[in-house]
Amino acid sequence: MFSALVFTSLSASPLAAGQSKFLGNIIPGSVPGNWDTYWNQATSENGCKWGTVQPNQGSFVWGQCDTAYNHCQTKGIPFKYHTFVWGSQEPGWIGGADGKTAVTNLIKAAAGRYKPQLIDVVNEALHAPSSIRNSLGGSGSTGWDWIVTSFEIAKSAFGGGGTKLLINDYGIVNDSGAVQRYLGIINILKGKSLLDGIGIQCHQFNVNTLAAATITANVNSLGATGLPVYPSELDINGNSEADQAQIYQRVFPALWTNTNIKGITIWGYITGQTWKDGTGLVACGNVGCAERQAMTWLKGYLETTKV
Ligand SMILES: *[C@@H]1O[C@H](CO)[C@@H](O)[C@H](O)[C@H]1NC(C)=O
Repeated sequence: MFSALVFTSLSASPLAAGQSKFLGNIIPGSVPGNWDTYWNQATSENGCKWGTVQPNQGSFVWGQCDTAYNHCQTKGIPFKYHTFVWGSQEPGWIGGADGKTAVTNLIKAAAGRYKPQLIDVVNEALHAPSSIRNSLGGSGSTGWDWIVTSFEIAKSAFGGGGTKLLINDYGIVNDSGAVQRYLGIINILKGKSLLDGIGIQCHQFNVNTLAAATITANVNSLGATGLPVYPSELDINGNSEADQAQIYQRVFPALWTNTNIKGITIWGYITGQTWKDGTGLVACGNVGCAERQAMTWLKGYLETTKV
């Protein structure tokens, strides 16, 4: 599904062009001028979160989410919708609404507007569960009925349209115990044919000190389900530019070459515009942008390592 889309991108030369996996990034409020030079999949940084698209119950505000989606449509690259059911960046009004009706309306409205290749249906279930989970069935008989309900709503709205429904969380790639807890949810969804892939966030606090062998073991445990794995919010920083590049060289190949992994999304790349300091890959000033050492390495690596 992705290869056909990726290979139609003719006007730019993203880093993973011609490979079987995408290497994507976030799009913030507007598309950075050099974005297409590097990336061939996009997730809106904040633009599709519930609090952004429906700050008031009566109306939707799609502008920022449209920006990322439309860019992907123009470039023929995969778009990931992030995210529907999450206990952070929720609109305040949902506490006083019928939660299931509210989520259903949100998902139906998004389905009427977008045909994403990927969706993070439920985000951070193990760490920041939705505040309206009880109205979605709470724990219930499976232990995770509210997640099952969320995926049933998403499947009914998006099913059959070539959209992959994903779950996404942090604190997984670094922690075999968390992998097992995550698999508890994943196997329930898989048993009901509701899940198409597994997102692992891979932020700097999870991967900076991680051994490649640990990454491989934890990704393989998830991949043993037969579902594709998507590192979804990768970022890395170090004590210096050189240190960041060193960490990239340890972490990135362990992800990129793992056959369970079908695409990677990095979470920001312009220095000063990322949510965690020091995770930038390109530093921009008055006279243009300079690639940091980690980016220089990454470009060379992807030229010689084809997956
Ligand atoms: C993995 O990272 C999370 C933070 O995201 C932390 O709470 C947890 O203790 C870490 N697990 C291990 C085994 O280091």
